[in-house]
Order: sequence, then C-alpha cells, then structure tokens
Amino acid sequence: MAQRSPPLLLTLLLCTLSVNSSFQPALVLEMAQILLENYCFPENLVGMQEAIQQAINSGEILQISDKKTLAAVLTVGVQGALNDPRLTVSYEPNFTPVVPQMLPSLPIEQLIWLVRNSVKLDILNNNVGYLRIDRIIGEETAAKLGSLLRDNIWDKVAQTSSLILDLRYSTAGELSGVPFIISYFSDSESLIHIDTVYDRPSNTTRELWTMPSITGEKYGKKKDLIILTSKRTVGAAEAVAYTLKNLKRAIIVGERSAGGSVKVQKIRIAQSEFYITVPVARSVSPITGQSWEVNGVSPMVNVIAKEAVAKAKSLLVVRSTIPKVIQSISDIIKRYYAFTDRIPALLQLLQSTDLFSVVSEEDLAVRLNHDLQTVSEDPRLIVKYMQDDAATGEEDLYNIQDDMKLLRELVDTTFKVEILPHNTGYLRFDKFVKLSAEAKLEELMANMVWEPLKDTNNLIIDLRYNTGGSSTSLALILSYLQDPSQKHHFFTIYDSPSYGSKRGVYVLTSYYTASVGEEFAYLVQSLHCGTVIGEITSGTLMHSKTFQIEGTDIAIIVPFINFLDNNGEFWLGGGVVPDAIVLAEDARHILNGYGTMYISSQKETNLLLIGSNLKSTYLLSYQNQ
Ligand SMILES: *[C@@H]1O[C@H](CO)[C@@H](O)[C@H](O)[C@H]1NC(C)=O
Repeated sequence: MAQRSPPLLLTLLLCTLSVNSSFQPALVLEMAQILLENYCFPENLVGMQEAIQQAINSGEILQISDKKTLAAVLTVGVQGALNDPRLTVSYEPNFTPVVPQMLPSLPIEQLIWLVRNSVKLDILNNNVGYLRIDRIIGEETAAKLGSLLRDNIWDKVAQTSSLILDLRYSTAGELSGVPFIISYFSDSESLIHIDTVYDRPSNTTRELWTMPSITGEKYGKKKDLIILTSKRTVGAAEAVAYTLKNLKRAIIVGERSAGGSVKVQKIRIAQSEFYITVPVARSVSPITGQSWEVNGVSPMVNVIAKEAVAKAKSLLVVRSTIPKVIQSISDIIKRYYAFTDRIPALLQLLQSTDLFSVVSEEDLAVRLNHDLQTVSEDPRLIVKYMQDDAATGEEDLYNIQDDMKLLRELVDTTFKVEILPHNTGYLRFDKFVKLSAEAKLEELMANMVWEPLKDTNNLIIDLRYNTGGSSTSLALILSYLQDPSQKHHFFTIYDSPSYGSKRGVYVLTSYYTASVGEEFAYLVQSLHCGTVIGEITSGTLMHSKTFQIEGTDIAIIVPFINFLDNNGEFWLGGGVVPDAIVLAEDARHILNGYGTMYISSQKETNLLLIGSNLKSTYLLSYQNQ
C-alpha cells in the first residue's frame, strides 16, 4: 500500500463526511480507532485521528441521513485515503458473525475425509505427476495426518519425473502449511526465508522459513515443476505460487490469481450497526520485498484456466528437450567452432546457464543465442529458431525437385538474364536456390542462363538485391566463372560450361547483399575470377555451417572457417569491400554503357579502368593471375 500523508487522508475523509448529529462524528472516531488498532499498515495512519478530530471540531461537514449511503461514502473515503480496496464500511443491521471452525479441532476421520476431497494425484504419460490441491492444510493438521499424507501423496509425487501442481481451485488454506510445500520442492542445503507475516492486533511478526528436514522423500529442486493458477486461486495457494515463482523453482501457468489477503476481519464499529472490514495482517516476501496480496500472482505463461493443463503438458515436452539441445549444441561447438580458444568458456556457459523459465523452443533459442554471443563476442555464432525461416526461400524447392516444369519456372523466375549494350551480359538473382537434385538445376541453368550469356564480352552479375540462400548453388555458379583448369579444390567439379576468366566478370554489390550473396562476392574477389563493384556488403557473411538440432526447430550456425582478408587479418564477417566502391544505384550504370562509359582492361599494366565522363573515374588494380 502506498503511504499517504495525513493531510491528504484528512481531506479525503472530510470530503465525504457528514456530522450534524453527534452520532456521525463518534462513528468516524470509532472507525479511526479500529483502524489504528487493527489495520496492518499502521504507518499509513500516522496523524489520522488528530486530523479527524480537528475536522469535526471545525464543523464544516455535510449531512447524510441514509445509513447505507453513509456506509458507501465512508467506504470511498477510507479506501481513497489509504489506497487499499480491501477496506470497506457496511451497514448491516442483521449481521451475525460466523466463527470459522478450525480444522485441527475436527475429528480425525473428518480431517481425512476433508483432505481426501481436496487433494488429487494422477500419474500421466511420461511419468508426469499431476497433483491438484484445493486446500493448503496448516501445519497442525498436517502433523495429525503426517504419515497418511506422506504415504499417499508426497512419496508418490517424489517418484515422478516432473510435476504439474494444480492450484486453480485452491481457495482455502493456511499459511502455516506453506513452508512444508516450499521445503518439499527445495534442497536441504540452506534454509530459505519464505515470508514475513505481520499481525497488527497482536503486534507480532512471524517469519516463515523452509524446514531443515522433512520426513519422507523430497522432490528437490531439479525436476520441472509447473504450477497452475486461476483467477480464483487465493490465499495460501497464492503464497505457494508466489514463493516458488520468485525462487525460480516453478513456472506459473494460467491466470493471474485472485490477490487475497493473509487475514481480513469484519469489525463492528462501537455499538452501531456499521461494520468495517479491515486487513489485519500482511505478508511481505523477503525475496521481492512485495507480496501476492491484492495484486495476485501473475503467471509466466498466460492462458485461460481451462487450457492450463494442456499448456503445462506441452511446456513439459518442450522442457524435456532442453538437456538434449544443450548437449547437441555443446557437441557441435566442440567439433566445429573455428575459434578453438573460446570453446572451453562456451561449454562452461552451456553447463551453467539458467534455463529455469524457458517456456518455448523459441525462447530457448533466444536465450542460448544471447548467452553464446555474450561469451564468444562472435556475431557469427548464432542459435536460432527456424520456424519462421522454414516458410521462406528454401522450402519452396523441396517438393518440386522432380518436376521439370516447375523447376524450369523456378530457374526462370530466379535468374534474370539480359544482354545489355556493348554485348555485355547481365545476370541478376536475388537468392541462391537450394536443391537436392543439383544435377537437374545444373542442366537447366546451362540451358536457360549460361547459353544466352556465353558469347557476351563481359558479364555483370548483379547481387545488389541478393540476400543469400543456400550455398549449395553458390559452388555451381562460381564454377562457371572459373577456368576449368583452375577449379579450386574447395568446390565440387562440375562438368558444365564455363565463362572462364578471360573475359571481364563484374559483380555488383550493395549494402543489402548478404550472407551467401556476400560469400559469393568474397570468393569472386579472392579467387580472382571477377571484380566487385558497388557498396560494402551488409556484413552477414558467414563461412558457417547450420545444424538443426534433431527433433526441434532450433538451429545453430557455427563459423567453422576463419577468413583471412586481403590484409591478412581475420575476417569476422564484416562486409565485403568492393574493388571499386560506388553507390549501388550507380554501379550498374557505370558498367552498362549509359552515358559515355567504358570498361577497358589493360592486361599489360594490370589495371582495370572503369569510368564515365559524368561520374568519377575508378582506377583499380586488376589482378588477372
Ligand atoms: C509493536 O511492537 C513493537 C516492538 O516489537 C513496539 O516498538 C511498538 O511500539 C508496538 N506497537 C504498538 C502499536 O503496540
């Protein structure tokens, strides 16, 4: 509750008061006295009584004769003044207080019956436990039923591999039962301070701690625990959920809980027929400094209560894959990651990373990616969730690889081939297609792409809009540009036509050119089979391998080769620096003969001259082996 200063409290109360008779001032003063003796936030009441007395003395207050209206007005006043919605004033001429029967005083048979009806245990598939508790019994009752509960509930639960604790219907219970449950789901090593409960009428503070030992087997803190809550979950059950959530021991699934109170009492105001309802005790979690009271426990996975069980089950399936994913990623990093000196730290991280609250594969991927990048400081080492990617780019080819007609369409739409003035060939493709039937792709490309270009004088390959794709077709296209005699061992040797390195090959790049597109530009440059012109590329080039983690949509991309750039430095995937840097939109104009432009290659001097009388002239070192 936010603290209110006395003057504000005063104003709020006075706005609503009416005291022409002597009854109402007395009532208000009595009410203030009750609050002073019972309200669990006494610090918010400082100065209240004096303020009220002063207001009464000055006598400038309105008249309200209807008692129900008076009660409503007082409620608004006191709630507003103390900022606590639980405080209410009611007019109830026929109110008879019910004295709640304390459970421990019931005969044992009745206790057993009651507990049987409020606890249900099932063992689901995969040894997932399902425990529904509708009433958190207090320590006294638990002590009476000790061995019965242990044999029938807790020892059986302890044998399960993971647990769904259903508190959606838990609407009754006692706080004194909370420490046992928290202890059951913790390790014994060190005791945990769970809660501090202040009781105003007795002016006492009680601390709840986990128990040093419990009879019977504990569940411990390693196995997955999911707690289900609903908007009806209230009281001690909220304390259980709140504590286990903030101890990072349980994932809360469902709805925000009711936001109950430790203890609320309805107190008669003097001898009147007015009553004031007052929270007389409060709970503060030493973990958060706050409480589940009033605001409730917010779930980590929000679903409506009736879908919570299904959600919890699917969550447990996701969580059960986590150890395997960690193992696979560790193995892949150990085996492939090029920066071997960083591997030990990465493996260490994977062992110790806190994945307690992971609730989806995507979530897991994001977390691991963040952690790995932080430790490796390598933007190329990536863990990602692939579901979104699967829908784009690569997938479209899988189903059509045997259908020549569709394949032809694909090649036709992917590769744009033109012959520009001065018999300059122009080839643009915006992605590198993926295909398992590479031979067919090769054949089609020979017919549809290379055949029209084979007699051109120069070839422009436009990668300005190329954002990557699959590197399988990279080798295929690159091999066409190389002299058959010079094919690099890195690539599969194709028995395909070749443009060769005798004619000029110009690769256009832009800021958008990415991933495999960049790799292509880089290889053209470093294998000396062409000249790169345009803007520095986006810098997502990775000489990396992508591994999908089996049975998941998670993939890890591991750089397994380090590039040395032209200056002999490690290349961490910064953009490819073109041989000639020009704005991407100018790059093609320079080459395709608009204006008065020329490309001349002076083999003797190893200089390539690209120029225009409208724009600047670019003079490049040209290294044709
Ligand atoms: C409550 O108890 C504390 C000491 O535990 C004491 O200092 C304080 O005055 C008491 N408050 C009231 C209102 O009795």
